[in-house]
Amino acid sequence: MAIKYNEKSRTFKLDAKDTSYIIAIVDEEQFIGHVYFGEKLPDENVNYLMRLEEAPFVPSKNNRNRLPFLDSFPTEYSTSGLGDFREPCLKVTTLSGAAVSGISYLSHKIYSGKPKLKGMPATFGEEDECTTLEITCVDKHLNLEVILVYSVFENLDVITRSVKVKNNCEESIMLNRVLSCCVDFDRIDFDVVTLHGAWSRERHINRRTVTLGKQGCSSFRGESSHQDNPFIAVMDKTATEDSGRVYGFNFVYSGNFIAQAEGCQFDTTRVVMGIHPMDFSWKLENGEEFTAPEVVMVYSNEGIGKMSRTLHDLYRNNLIRGEYKDKKRPILINNWEATYFDFNTDKLISIAKEASKLGIEMLVMDDGWFGNRSSDNCSLGDWVVNEEKLKGGLKYLVDEVNKLNMKFGIWFEPEMISPDSKLYRVHPDWCIHIEGRVGTLCRNQYVLDITREEVREYIYQSMKKVLLSANIEYIKWDMNRQLSDLGSSALPYDRQGELSHRYVLAVYDLMERLTSEFPHILLENCSGGGARFDAGMLYYSPQIWASDDTDAIERLKIQHGTSLVYPSSAIGAHVSDCPNHTVGRITPFETRGHVALAGTFGYELDVTKISKEDRDMIPKQVRMYHKYNDLIRTGDLYRINSLFENSEYNCIGYVSKDKAEALFIYVQVLARPNYHSRRVCLKGLDKNTYYRNEETGEVYSGAALMNGGILIKDLWGDFKSKLVHFVREGE
Ligand code: GLA
Repeated sequence: MAIKYNEKSRTFKLDAKDTSYIIAIVDEEQFIGHVYFGEKLPDENVNYLMRLEEAPFVPSKNNRNRLPFLDSFPTEYSTSGLGDFREPCLKVTTLSGAAVSGISYLSHKIYSGKPKLKGMPATFGEEDECTTLEITCVDKHLNLEVILVYSVFENLDVITRSVKVKNNCEESIMLNRVLSCCVDFDRIDFDVVTLHGAWSRERHINRRTVTLGKQGCSSFRGESSHQDNPFIAVMDKTATEDSGRVYGFNFVYSGNFIAQAEGCQFDTTRVVMGIHPMDFSWKLENGEEFTAPEVVMVYSNEGIGKMSRTLHDLYRNNLIRGEYKDKKRPILINNWEATYFDFNTDKLISIAKEASKLGIEMLVMDDGWFGNRSSDNCSLGDWVVNEEKLKGGLKYLVDEVNKLNMKFGIWFEPEMISPDSKLYRVHPDWCIHIEGRVGTLCRNQYVLDITREEVREYIYQSMKKVLLSANIEYIKWDMNRQLSDLGSSALPYDRQGELSHRYVLAVYDLMERLTSEFPHILLENCSGGGARFDAGMLYYSPQIWASDDTDAIERLKIQHGTSLVYPSSAIGAHVSDCPNHTVGRITPFETRGHVALAGTFGYELDVTKISKEDRDMIPKQVRMYHKYNDLIRTGDLYRINSLFENSEYNCIGYVSKDKAEALFIYVQVLARPNYHSRRVCLKGLDKNTYYRNEETGEVYSGAALMNGGILIKDLWGDFKSKLVHFVREGE
């Protein structure tokens, strides 16, 4: 069993692959203490680490200083109002207005497998992969149960956590915050890494020192957001891509979140993660239970790179579901950057005709096919085909595309409503709004109140009708604004604080329904580019559009940051036309292909209009995709150089699990005059295996390639790129 309980020391020991996580029940009052998280230990009892023999001592020995005890005790789950003044995970208000809670151990159970979280995404594991511990704690004064749930993935360095709160008191209570995870590290000498950005430059890496006070990231935009990603890692200050201890935390949730490392007075660090308490409250009636979403915790003893590879394995095998989980995705061409709103049946068919000749496998019709939509001013909510644009209707178009041996995909933005729409004219109260207050527009649209059953049903049925009307095999589910004006006409005043979380649950409900009823449809998430690139979404869609910025050079940063947490198989990446529509940069077509190869790969351009030279390169890129995609989708990612540290070049590698094959993608961002070739030390190979460079035929050991490196000559010109492919000698 990966989880053991030691009766004598009253210790729970959770052992993942190379990781131990230790929890103890402490003192007569049964506090739940955090003992240890990190490298695997042979010991079962290391309770000395909690310093309970030092002042202020446990309350049974020194109740005079109970408050200082609570304020320094390393707890597994922090509560508010009794004396722990570090970040609380739980805050509960009773009808009397008191907001004080404290929990102690009541019972526990350990079992094989991993429970589902009702209505929410979560990683999954079989009985022979996972062991679960549920520690039931109580606040006796409130008659409240708090169940801390931990699951260990035995063959990975992963432990997941979630929390359930059950109200056993006679009155209703108000949950003001229920975070999912708290780890009290007994050190402050950490660096912290988070991912930040904006529209068109998502998930740039931000590394800094943990100092006294709070650092981290958060969103209360109603979605995980462009600006911050629900991820935080604390690590040795000396940790690099390949060495040092790294602790990663990722939230399997797509709404408001907080991810925070707090440097505390005695040089400890409290890491918390969960639903952001801003815009959150939840009324819990007697007998009701609230479940907080899952946090994935990863420990790496080999730097940031190993943390990423662990997360990639976990998400590819134990989070992503559906028919495309382990399958190569069709190479698509999306008409957004090709036509924007200006398209019709003929234009789309002519793009498809040309694309099919070049080996592209699917046409995706983006925004603008419904209602009167010819700009982003109107029609969201009216999911009825615009037959003026699509003469002959949707089925005709899809059939024509299918005749070209191509699949067909379609864009929706189901959660939104335009004020200028039939839907809004009939149901102005269906959007999230405050009665009497002028609503805040964003991209000329409001957010539908999909927490209302009838609104959800309408949206689902509208989509279903379209999906059943033709052979649609892919959906791009977009979401182009943040939530504001939080008010729901369907909720009573004391439940308005539930809206943001209910909204996320409603999105999950719609996606679950859609993916179960249309299992063959490939779902790609999108939110104004990559504003909902999170593990919650990966449970429903195996790929997510990473950014509206398709510039190959900016993409190096976006995809690098994204890859810290999420696998390449999930990163939506396309080759687009130049000058790039977002930044105006001109890069070689070949480089754009090499950069998109490190994601799902596809095109976003008018293939009938690009130069012949570029067009002629597409069949070669298509062959390249088919040749390397299995390796990229399933292999181990090694980041060799980062533009965040060195602006001259970028290099990443994919190594197959059996170490028989490796592909390195090298992008020379800036050419260097009058210099020798660049030496790049590869990573991830087997040092004793001999590898043949497919291009040159040279054979060297993995040891030579990793320690001596390869020499890459200057590629003459900025933004040039190169693939270097190795196969095990003799294969
Ligand atoms: C968002 C998406 C784009 C495109 C447009 C359409 O910005 O990220 O890819 O679909 O919406 O309006």
